[in-house]
Amino acid sequence: MLVQGAMKVETSHIVEQLDDLAEYRLGEWYFASGIYRGVPLAVSRTQWGLANAAATTALAMEFFRPVAVINQGTAGAHDPALQNFDIVIGKETVNISAWKSHFRARGEGVDEEALDKLGVFAYDKEARRFTQEVCHKADEGLFYAAAALKDRYTKGRVAEGVRGTADSWYREVGRVLFLHDFYGTAVEEMEGDAVAQICQTYDVPFLAIRVVSNTVFAGDVDWDLAVGAALQEYVLAVAEEYMNMR
Ligand code: 5AD
Repeated sequence: MLVQGAMKVETSHIVEQLDDLAEYRLGEWYFASGIYRGVPLAVSRTQWGLANAAATTALAMEFFRPVAVINQGTAGAHDPALQNFDIVIGKETVNISAWKSHFRARGEGVDEEALDKLGVFAYDKEARRFTQEVCHKADEGLFYAAAALKDRYTKGRVAEGVRGTADSWYREVGRVLFLHDFYGTAVEEMEGDAVAQICQTYDVPFLAIRVVSNTVFAGDVDWDLAVGAALQEYVLAVAEEYMNMR
């Protein structure tokens, strides 16, 4: 199984717990592999953003041939009910920068909410072509394994929800509420949907799990990166549960 995180604080807690650790550099990106409680794991540090997430996922598909992929890490809340340390298991992911705005002529101003959802292209094995979809659904088996462990987490709540991905970080409460409404997103981050796209193209099961590290509903405060290790502990348990279920 492949587990991804964008930053060192989002992956090192997992890497430290691997037996038979091997470390790799593919391109300029960091990867590791090893064994966690009998389960073979590959770890990828993707770096921030969609392009890095897609590139590292495709590289890992070719190099490790994973049976499943979990993309995890920190996120910002779109749902006002979420707080730091709450975990969101992704029912689906959506690219929140994939939209087409409505035409307006010069001088007619800008309406940032007049949008139609566009979606992005991934290979559909039934249709045998790349198809454009707004949402990419999580794999049911992975989702089930993650949801089954909810009660074990004591540092916050474990919710289910939609993950929104963009190379953007929204800090205006009004914009966040608009996106929450428009896309139904629980959290925003910068990798999930790009990984989902590549996983669908390779026909490999995918799940997104994120932990809230910041919320605009708490005011103008910085993110809390201490949440990273808490989620990695949960993700290790999910990986073990899923691999033992198979
Ligand atoms: N908006 C966007 N990305 C966020 N991340 C954490 N919080 C947010 C947020 N509010 C994640 C991204 C990226 C890095 C900035 O942390 O996925 O990897």
